[in-house]
Amino acid sequence: MITGGAGFIGSHVVRLFVNKYPQYHILNVDKLTYAGNLANLKDIEDKPNYTFVKADICDFDRMVDLMKKENVTGIIHLAAESHVDRSIRDPFTFARTNVMGTLSLLQAAKLCWDERPDGYEGCRFYHISTDEVYGALELNHPEGIPAPYSTTASSGEHHAVYGDDFFLEDTRYNPHSPYSASKASSDHFVRAFHDTYGLPTIVTNCSNNYGPYQFPEKLIPLFINNIRKRKPLPVYGKGDNVRDWLYVEDHARAIDIIFHKGEVARTYNIGGFNEWKNIDIIKVLINTVDRLLGRAEGEDLDLITYVTDRAGHDKRYAIDSRRLKDELGWEPSLQFEEGIEKTVRWYLDNETWLENVTSGDYLKYYDEMYRGR
Ligand code: NAD
Ligand code: TYD
Repeated sequence: MITGGAGFIGSHVVRLFVNKYPQYHILNVDKLTYAGNLANLKDIEDKPNYTFVKADICDFDRMVDLMKKENVTGIIHLAAESHVDRSIRDPFTFARTNVMGTLSLLQAAKLCWDERPDGYEGCRFYHISTDEVYGALELNHPEGIPAPYSTTASSGEHHAVYGDDFFLEDTRYNPHSPYSASKASSDHFVRAFHDTYGLPTIVTNCSNNYGPYQFPEKLIPLFINNIRKRKPLPVYGKGDNVRDWLYVEDHARAIDIIFHKGEVARTYNIGGFNEWKNIDIIKVLINTVDRLLGRAEGEDLDLITYVTDRAGHDKRYAIDSRRLKDELGWEPSLQFEEGIEKTVRWYLDNETWLENVTSGDYLKYYDEMYRGR
């Protein structure tokens, strides 16, 4: 069972598992909120080892039914409300889905797996979380300094870090936004189910993802779309906040490795070793879109519009994912420049997807298709 499989990261995980593991039956459980879009899975929807179920993870009875009927032994849980700005406007929805929804899944899994003759043997509850639970790091090197360690993917030209410390697996939780507070709470529930009942759980905390099928409310797809349409680019504050970016397929690959080889009750941080200031990324995006559209490079720099900062805006995120590299051999495979090029090309080549999502047409289509189910 993969929850949230119609969303951005979930769709890449579903695609990877359906294609790579014909011996598994993949059940994609998704409520299809504004962020869920079955067009993200068009290429695999007819595969014999794939089933989509429209359901809310908060519906405990439905989760129990599904798990029993499908004899679910592995759960990769991605379903969540995921956008910080929305959480500032509407924290209740975040507590409902991220906290209560996760608890509903945990309790359903426990109930079903308690009835198995061989107990929890061969079962796994894998919860996908974020580095935002750790709070914000200092930005004490605003100009950037060379990174203290490197990886395959980050051995390119840009490899700076903007502070002295990094999020490690034992960094104390200190969430600031309603989104990160809800994810922190769900992480605690997952660990509590291991510590209290012995449920075989794993939690991973990943940095910012980017790539195809990301909803254009997040920085990278929103800005690609706005540059394409020559609309203003709303940069929060001074644009000097730092995020650590990872190409989404590298995250999906990490999830595959950890689901199969990760140690139960262990936490793994997943990151790109790839820190960027927002304003620097925005300039890369402008140059890339302009070049690919045949415009003069940098022609759209004047779209940059500094706006009021996000409330409680975390200054810097930076992941140290050496545990995952040392213990399970995972490293990001793409350099950022390569990933951004692929990503911009994808959005420019998939205008229909972008138009459907930005106009809301995809919602009407799926509402009709699934009404009453
Ligand atoms: P997304 O918003 O693109 O997708 C979320 C999916 O969950 C959607 O398909 C939505 O329909 C579904 N969903 C929401 N509420 C539901 C409910 N109550 N029941 C069933 N389905 C529901 O999110 P994403 O960016 O793909 O993130 C996926 C997971 O990864 C989240 O748990 C998020 O916290 C985590 N994460 C995301 C990032 C990132 O950069 N996007 C980084 C680290 C971790
Ligand atoms: P976002 O994609 O929302 O991810 P997160 O908040 O989870 O890190 O934002 C990435 C960064 O870009 C973050 O520092 C906020 C900033 N940002 C803007 O400056 N303008 C925008 O319109 C958006 C959506 C984000």
